[in-house]
Amino acid sequence: MQLHDKEFVPFISAEEIDFAIAQMAKQIEADFGDEIPVFIGVLNGAFMVVSDFMKHYKSPCEVSFVKFASYEGISSTHELKQLIGLNQDLTGRTVVLIEDIVDTGNTIEGLKALFKKQEVKHLKIATLFFKPDAFKKDIKLDYVGIRIPDKFIVGFGLDYDGLGRNLPEVYQLKD
Ligand code: IMP
Ligand code: MG
Repeated sequence: MQLHDKEFVPFISAEEIDFAIAQMAKQIEADFGDEIPVFIGVLNGAFMVVSDFMKHYKSPCEVSFVKFASYEGISSTHELKQLIGLNQDLTGRTVVLIEDIVDTGNTIEGLKALFKKQEVKHLKIATLFFKPDAFKKDIKLDYVGIRIPDKFIVGFGLDYDGLGRNLPEVYQLKD
């Protein structure tokens, strides 16, 4: 499969992704189902995982989104630019940040700093994909869907320079 100048090969099926999201939703529901958690999706990448996650999460909950820009092309840039912020008081709430993927951890670090300013009850991090070999931070990821090697992927919300987000499965950059 070709996107722009790069070739990608099938990597993770839609079924595997759905199973991983369902497991995360079940775990979070077991941990916080007696509260009304606020799920905060990190745009753009997380729109698909948040949508499917919400369908698997059966207890009362709220959802909101934040937007940063930190990625250009296929390598992480270190700058974190906030494009859409929070417009909700989260004091005393259980907040679960939902990411599509955690790579170097820069984004998650920036997000945690942002939420530290609010007096939330719990701040948890959930990510569908995680690249442990690229991760450089001393931050706990509370819920991880699928661990993957440090190779660029597209699909299921993830893009290569804008393309590939609509793919229902995940593809990996071909060697
Ligand atoms: P981090 O800040 O380096 O952890 O990168 C996090 C963000 O970079 C994710 O939310 C994605 O938007 C993007 N990203 C990281 N790895 C990939 C990838 O393999 N494909 C597409 N986007 C990625
Ligand atoms: Mg993202």
